[in-house]
Amino acid sequence: MCDKVGKGLILLAGNEPSPMSYADNTFDFRQDSTFLYYFGLDLPSLAGVIDAESGRSVLFGNDAGIDDLIWTGPVPALRELAAEVGVGETRPFAELADEISAAAASGRTVHYLPPYRAETSLLLSRLLGRPAESLFEGKSADLIFAVAEMREKKEECELDELRKAYEIGFEMHTAAMKMCRAGVRENEITGVINAIPKRMGGWGLSFPSIVTQHGETLHNSPTTEPLRDGRLLLVDAGGERASHYCSDHTRTYPVNGRFTERQREIYEIVLKAHDAVPQLLRPGMMYSDLHRAACVILAEGLHDAGLILCGGEEAVEAGVMSGLFMPHGLGHGIGLDVHDCQAVGERSFDFGEYLERAAATATCIHRATWRLNPGTVLSDEPGIYFIPALIDKVRGEGRFKGLVDFAKLEGYKDFGGIRIEDDLIVTETGCEITGGGTIPSKVADLEAFLAR
Ligand code: GLY
Ligand code: MN
Ligand code: MN
Repeated sequence: MCDKVGKGLILLAGNEPSPMSYADNTFDFRQDSTFLYYFGLDLPSLAGVIDAESGRSVLFGNDAGIDDLIWTGPVPALRELAAEVGVGETRPFAELADEISAAAASGRTVHYLPPYRAETSLLLSRLLGRPAESLFEGKSADLIFAVAEMREKKEECELDELRKAYEIGFEMHTAAMKMCRAGVRENEITGVINAIPKRMGGWGLSFPSIVTQHGETLHNSPTTEPLRDGRLLLVDAGGERASHYCSDHTRTYPVNGRFTERQREIYEIVLKAHDAVPQLLRPGMMYSDLHRAACVILAEGLHDAGLILCGGEEAVEAGVMSGLFMPHGLGHGIGLDVHDCQAVGERSFDFGEYLERAAATATCIHRATWRLNPGTVLSDEPGIYFIPALIDKVRGEGRFKGLVDFAKLEGYKDFGGIRIEDDLIVTETGCEITGGGTIPSKVADLEAFLAR
């Protein structure tokens, strides 16, 4: 990383415990993924500094005091922790401020990543003498690109963790399928599947589970609504290993175990696109080409179903898929974060300014320039959604006139949405579907599983 950043001091803040309702009542501790990647320590209240020129690295933290020992138990001394991960120097946390101000005073750049937690913003603001509101503009593009490039290409040990994360996903999804029947509440299923990652020795959820009969709302939260005969249930859920490598899968299936003709017709279109992606994926391919190819398959299917009136290519070119039926990307990077490196980059740039650089590093932090090289891991998650508010808006604005059969579409406003998602590892020859994609997805397999 040092050679990529070049000059200056790299500051990587670990996470603090995050209070739920008062200071000592905290959410499960989740380490910052980039700190974890470079410093390997899954404990709160640490920070790391790396000198990009000399390669010197220092771990800042405090040894546990008597109060910590009474309340939270013994932890190894800071020096032992550092030795475990090959960091030679340790200093008390309070001395981090001296380290940073000495670097700044001698005109050295202090590279930091855009913070996403308030506690980190406050720390950086104090250390750097910058108002919290201006931290975002002072972030280091050099560090962002270096981190993204390294985290993007997974090593074999990381891929093994992602393969094992699949097993958690498999258990979560098949448990949901086993519970699925009319009368069971969305959050009853959520409660059961949310317990699975920990039961399997993992850290927990890789994101809040989506268990909903309203799959048309992309990230809908589960409710106390009972499942109803005739509706589709969309479950988008994944687990994190103790190492924090993630899984992310979606399945959509009928509450009563049998697809109606109309549900099956739309489902088969989404499945066709989902299944085509691993076949089309070649190492070195641009993500945007894969996204487009999947959208064309979806649009052709919707044409055959009579909802799109023009050809697939023309519909995609006109923006019918992104503007109406699938208002999200085909996929995202997966690794230590379920949307890998999203905190590092994707939303933190005007990529217009950094286009050349983004193209050169070609990572998932900018999907328009993302090249799917071996070692990249991404989700394959096409969907078709019938979003009443969006249908009304698009129709009201006169968009896609003559391209979409809006009269017919009116009849789909109670349909919901379908998404099917698996995780792909790009290889030298194509890709590997984590776990072999054995969570049922074909209509016959799903119906057979749901009938058990
Ligand atoms: N779990 C959110 C997503 O699929 O991106
Ligand atoms: Mn998902
Ligand atoms: Mn996903």
